[in-house]
Amino acid sequence: MKRTEIKELLGMEPSKELKIVKGWVRNKRGSKNVAFITLNDGSCFSSLQVVAAVEQAGQDLLARIHTGAALCVEGVLNPSRGAGQNVELEAKKITIYGEASPEEYPLQPKKHSLEFLREIAHLRFRTNTFGAVTRLRHAMIFAIHQYFHQNGFYNIHTPIITASDAEGAGKMFRVTTLDPASPPKDSNGKVDYREDFFGRETHLTVSGQLEAELAALALSKVYTFGPTFRAENSNTKRHLAEFWMIEPEVAFNDLDDNMDLAEDFLKFLMKYALDNCMEDLEFLEKRQTDAEKNLPAAQREEMSLIQKIRSVLDSQFQRINYTDAIHILKNSKPNKKKKFQFPINEWGADLQAEHERFLVEKHFKKPVIITDYPKAIKAFYMKQNPDDTVRAMDILFPGIGEIVGGSQREEEYHKLVKRMEEMAIDPKEMWWYLDTRKFGTVPHAGFGLGFERLMLFVSGMGNIRDVIPFPRTPQNAEF
Ligand code: 4AD
Ligand code: MG
Repeated sequence: MKRTEIKELLGMEPSKELKIVKGWVRNKRGSKNVAFITLNDGSCFSSLQVVAAVEQAGQDLLARIHTGAALCVEGVLNPSRGAGQNVELEAKKITIYGEASPEEYPLQPKKHSLEFLREIAHLRFRTNTFGAVTRLRHAMIFAIHQYFHQNGFYNIHTPIITASDAEGAGKMFRVTTLDPASPPKDSNGKVDYREDFFGRETHLTVSGQLEAELAALALSKVYTFGPTFRAENSNTKRHLAEFWMIEPEVAFNDLDDNMDLAEDFLKFLMKYALDNCMEDLEFLEKRQTDAEKNLPAAQREEMSLIQKIRSVLDSQFQRINYTDAIHILKNSKPNKKKKFQFPINEWGADLQAEHERFLVEKHFKKPVIITDYPKAIKAFYMKQNPDDTVRAMDILFPGIGEIVGGSQREEEYHKLVKRMEEMAIDPKEMWWYLDTRKFGTVPHAGFGLGFERLMLFVSGMGNIRDVIPFPRTPQNAEF
C-alpha cells in the first residue's frame, strides 16, 4: 500500500479504510493507556494527530518514540476529538524508521531562537518556521517562472563563472585551479593567469545581466534566475555573499516600460502568495506578532504580515526621481535633527538604507521607485541622460529598502565606449557586449530582483540568513 501525505489526509473524510502515513514526530504526550503523537511530513504546515492505544502499539515500542523520530503509521481516520482538525489517525501498527535520542536531539517542542537554529541549519527544516519559509520559497520560485512563461519570456541560463565584472561594485570571488602556495609568475612577478584553467582571470558572477542582454537582443524577452555572488564584507540582515537574482531583460522597453513590468511582476508575486500560501502565511504572521510583543510599540510593525502583502498589491508604487528624493530627504525631520547616520547634504550622495526606509515607511508609506540617479554612483551600462544622471531605477519596499535595481541600457555604441573608458573598463575585454551595440542595436531595459529580499518581505522574517536554507555570509559556510 502507498503512503498518503498528510496534506491530503487532512482533507479526507473519516473512514475505515487503512491508510499509511510516514513522517517525523514533533511531539508525543500521553497517559497510561494512550499516546498522542504529532506527526509532520512537511507536505503542509499542519501535523497529523496520531492516537496510539498502548495495548495495540505496545509499551516498549511507544517508549522508543521521541521528538524527532521517524515513523511509519498504519491506521484509520477517525473524526478528531481535538480542535483545529477534522480527522485524526487511530494507529493500528507503528514502525520506527529512525529513533532520535531525547538527550541528544537538539530540537524540542519549545521555542528555539533563530540564532540557535542557524547553528543547526541541517535540522532547522524540521521546525514550523523553516517548514513554512521553505514552502513559501518554493511557491515564489514557481510563481516567478509562471509569470514570465505566461508573459512570453524565455528563461536562459547565464554563466556562473565569468571573466567580466558586470556591476563594478564590490568584490568578486576568484575561481582558480592554481596552487595558492606557488602560483606561476610572469616576468613582472605577478601571478600568471594565462596558466590558469581558463587561461585568464575568472570569478563567480555578480549578475547574469550582460549575457541576458545578448539574448534579449534576439529573443526580445528573456529572464535569468540564478545564483550570484558578492564578496563584500557586509554583515547586515539584508546581505548574503551568495544569493539568487531574477533578471528579466526586454528589447524595445524604455525605463517606463521597465517600471511597469517590475510593478506588475511584484504584484503578481504578492497575489500568488496570498492565493496559494495562506496556511504558512498565517503562521508566519503570528510568529512575527509574537516576536514583536516584547518590543516597544514604536518598533512594532504598523501592519500585520498579510496586511502588508495586501497593501503592496493594492498600492500604486510611488515613482520619483533621485533629485526630488534628495530634496525630500534634505528637508526631512530626521535630516534636520541630525538623526541620520549619513546626513544628506548635497545632490550626488548615495542613498543609504536609512534614507530608503524613511522615504518608503515614513514619507510615502508605500513602495517607491526612484529613477535617474547620478551616473557617478551607478554602473557603466546604464542609459545616459543629457545631464549627469542615468536612466536607473531602484524599487524600495517597506521594511526592506532596495528590493530591485535596474535600468534602461545604453544602446549607443560611442556613448557606451566613452563611459567605459571613463570608468576604467577596457572595451577590448567586453568586445562581445559592445558588438550588440554595433549590430542591430535597440533600446532595451531590465532589472534584478533579489530573491532573498523578496523572501524577507513575504515571510516577515527579519534576517536574510533565515530565508535561504544555507546562508553564505562572511566567516560562515558550515553546511
Ligand atoms: O542592484 P543590483 O546590484 O543590480 C544588478 O546586479 C543588476 N545587474 C540587475 C539588472 O539590472 N539586471 O542587484 C539587484 C538586487 C538588489 O536590488 C537586491 O535586491 C539584491 O539584488 N542584492 C542582494 N541581495 C542579497 N544580498 C546581497 N549582497 C545583495 N546585493 C544585491
Ligand atoms: Mg542596486
